[in-house]
Formats: sequence, structure tokens, C-alpha cells
Amino acid sequence: MSVFLCFLFLAPLILIFLHVFKPSKLNLPPSPKKLPIIGNLHQRGKLHPRNRRNLAEKYGPVALLQYGNVPVVVISSKEAAEEVLKIHDSECCNRPETAGTKITFYNFKDIGLAPFGDEWTALRKLSVVELFSVKKLQSFRNIREEENDLCIKKLSEFATTRTPVNLERTLFTLIGNIVCRIGYGINLYECEFVDENRIMELVHKSEKVIRATAFSDFFPGRIGRLVDRISGQEKRLKNIFSEVDTFYQNILDEHLKPGRESSDIIDVMIDMKKKQEKDGDALKFTTDHLKGMISDILTAGVGGSAATVLWGITELIRNPKVMKKVQDEIRTKLGDEKERIKEEDLNQLHYFKLMVKELFRLHPSTPLLLPRQALSHFKVQGYDIPAKAQILVNVYAIGRDPNLWENADEFNPDRFLDSSIDYKGGNFEFIPFGSGRRICPGMTMGIILVELTLLNLLYFFNWGVPEKDVARENVTRDEDNLDFVQVLHP
Ligand code: HEM
Repeated sequence: MSVFLCFLFLAPLILIFLHVFKPSKLNLPPSPKKLPIIGNLHQRGKLHPRNRRNLAEKYGPVALLQYGNVPVVVISSKEAAEEVLKIHDSECCNRPETAGTKITFYNFKDIGLAPFGDEWTALRKLSVVELFSVKKLQSFRNIREEENDLCIKKLSEFATTRTPVNLERTLFTLIGNIVCRIGYGINLYECEFVDENRIMELVHKSEKVIRATAFSDFFPGRIGRLVDRISGQEKRLKNIFSEVDTFYQNILDEHLKPGRESSDIIDVMIDMKKKQEKDGDALKFTTDHLKGMISDILTAGVGGSAATVLWGITELIRNPKVMKKVQDEIRTKLGDEKERIKEEDLNQLHYFKLMVKELFRLHPSTPLLLPRQALSHFKVQGYDIPAKAQILVNVYAIGRDPNLWENADEFNPDRFLDSSIDYKGGNFEFIPFGSGRRICPGMTMGIILVELTLLNLLYFFNWGVPEKDVARENVTRDEDNLDFVQVLHP
């Protein structure tokens, strides 16, 4: 039975039980007209981050949407974002649950989707010590440089014959292998259970399940879950995810093999799990926690960084003057004799780093951040935000707000020349990594991945699109189309 039929069948019951029409005395944020029961669900498809910009133009910086039984507040101004993420951070640092994220993050036993509480704190602390500390980040430097070097060698073969490359796949393989080596000590080129080129499909499959919707996302509770079961949606999502789960299980099995010597974050968690069982600790890591961490590292670590680099090359091809300025700086400062780029080379570059900032402003890889959920009622800009409301911070719209940025849609790194604004979470007009308690813990790693990859691509090659190729058209198109091929000029 389709979700729609189940919905029609159950709608009257839901209406009675959930009191959707109960009049509210709260000063709720303005919202588009709603339909009975489903609220604004029918408009959901139109709510691409770009369109939510229109939402702000029409309804203001704090707008309310009703998705079935779930109120969703969309924040679209610097001031409102600061109120939510700074002043009320402790009241809205929970994450809402969805059927897709429950599967992908193993009952929310990960960092990104875990409810706010002791378990989340413990996992996050562990990730900071074992993955993201300055010491750890430096210890992974060799892996990053080595993998970039390998990638450049492979791309050079294409360049000598002027053969177009699929940059998206190349970036997923490069960044995927760096992240897998750092996170799980697994080198995809030597791995028996996965081909290095599969990593893009695995990340995309995982993202597909995360983004998928289910009846219970909008009508939470027992009825919602029952409908998902009857309609087969739960099974469908589990089927899509099964290949990813097998990949994670294989990673785990590698770590459980006797006599293993390395000590990545998964090894540390396995040791902690054994100790917790022996000591009878209150916090007990389970297989779900181990797989949740594996899932976080892959889904959070690979897609966003690869997409940002891809947008980098796209914007630079679209803006040849900026490309020239950036490459002139790189090649003048680093000379033209280098066989391999080192991370310390980044320290010599100033304009290049402003270009990366501009990329994060125009193309935040998580345009609405990860959704938050209000733990209790609070007020933003005078409006009531009810407990349990979902909160989306539209960093895409804020990063392109014409009141904050001159020629906001233009890719122009010069805007940062005399500016102290940075992306580290304190300037609320520019928060591509979020802010507050749930700010991205992998920010420094993400920035290094993006900067080092872009530097390698721009130092060794000139970029363009193949002549007479539809790709030329794609480069001038807007947001949605990331798929194009580039030709390299040695
Ligand atoms: C360009 C690269 C990256 C970008 C733009 C990015 C962006 C973000 C954003 C916007 C959030 C949500 C913040 C919020 O809700 O306020 C987030 C959360 C997170 N990111 Fe990243 N990220 C990047 C790289 C990474 C990397 C490399 C890792 C790890 C390998 C990582 C791990 C995480 C985790 C675990 C969370 C969840 C934090 C929590 O809920 O406590 N990210 N990231």
C-alpha cells in the first residue's frame, strides 16, 4: 500500500487525535497558508534552500512551516541565527528524529544525530581527542599529502592526452580514501571488500536514505511508524542502505580481527567497550555506537568536502579573472619547480584562502545546517518557538543576504580583503560550519581537505570545460547541476 493511501485512510483518525486545529494563543512566526492536516507538506518539494530565500522575503527572518504534525521554524537572518545558536543554544541543541536518519545512524548512536545528553557528550569528546585535536590532525598530514600526490599523478595521465575527467568521482575517491585511512585505517586501493570507485555511490546511497521522507517524520509516534511499516517505506529505506551497512560491517570485522595493532578511533571504541563491560560502567558502547561513528565519519567527512572543492573549480571556471589571480599568486609564491605540494605551502597563500572563504559563503555544503529541535519553549525575535519544533538555520540565505553582502550572488573573494569575518562560528552572517554546541567538530579537518585539494588542482593544472560539450552549458547554470567534466591543461 502506498504512503498516500495509508495517509488517506488514517487522516480522520489523526485529525481527531492530534488536535491540529486547536487554536493557539502563542505569537507564532508568520507562515504560508496551510492545508488541513498536512499543513505545508504539499509545498515541501519547492522548499529548496534557494526558495527558502523567497520564504524569508515573503514572511520575514523567522518563518513557520507546518509539516503534518511537526512545526518547522526557518531562520534566515544574521540576528535571528545569533539568537538561536548563541542565546538559546542550550534550549535547541537536540536533533529531530526521522526514519531515514534512524537507519543511517544506527538508532542515533552517533554524534551528529544523537539527542543532546551524556552519550552525545562522550562521543563528541572522544572524536575531538582521537580525530580532530591539533596533534591528531598533524599526525594525519602524511596521509593527506600522499593521497593528493597520487591523485595528481593519475590526473596527469589524463592531462597529457587531454582526456576529460569526471572531477566529482575523482574527488570522492581522493577524499574518501583520505577519510577512510584516517578514520578506520583502511586504504581503499588495497581493500578487499570495496573498490575505491564505489565510495561515491556508498556516500550517495547514505545521503539518499538521510534525505528520504517517511510518514512518521511528519506524524511521529506509533501510528506514524505503523504506517511506515505497512506502506513498506521502512523496508525500502533499509534495502537502499543495506550495501552501506555491509561496508560498515566489513570495516568493523577488520577491527575485530585478532592480533590487530593499529589504534584508530574505532579501535579505541572497541577497547572502551570491552572495559565498560568488565567494569559495569553506566555508559555502554554497543555495535550501534561503533557503526554510528563509522557512519558519521564517512557521511560527514566525504560529501561536504568533495562538493566544496567541486564548486571551487566550477566558480573559478565561471570567473576567469579570479582563476588567474588565484593561480598567479599560487605559482608566484610556490615557484614552478614543485613536484609535490606540502601543507605548509598553504601558509604562503593569502588570496587563495580568501577564495576558499568565498566558496564557503556561496556554497555551504549543508545549506540549512543539520536540523535542530527545541528542547523547551523559547522566543526568537519576539516569536514563540514551541518545544519540539524543528529549527532550520538557512545559512545559504544568510550568506547571500543583500543587506549583509554587496553583490551577494557574485563570486568575489576581494570582499574579504579588508574583513575580519571568518567561518569559525562567531560571525553569524557566515556560519557554513554552524555554531554553538553542535558546531561541526570536523571543521579544521574539512578546511584542510578543501584547501589542500584545491591547491594541488590549481598548482598543477589549468582547468576548462571540453569544447562542444554540454558541460560548457552546465558551468553557467545555477545551483542544482554539479555534474560536469573538465579537461586538464598540463
Ligand atoms: C567542508 C567540510 C565540512 C563542512 C562544510 C561541514 C559542515 C557541518 C555543519 C554545517 C554541521 C552542522 C552544524 C550545526 O548543526 O550547527 C556539521 C556537523 C558535523 N560535522 Fe561537519 N562539515 C565538514 C567536514 C566534516 C568532517 C571532515 C567531519 C569528520 C570527519 C565532520 C563531522 C561532523 C560531525 C560529526 C557533525 C555533527 C556534530 C554534532 O551534531 O555534534 N564534518 N558539519
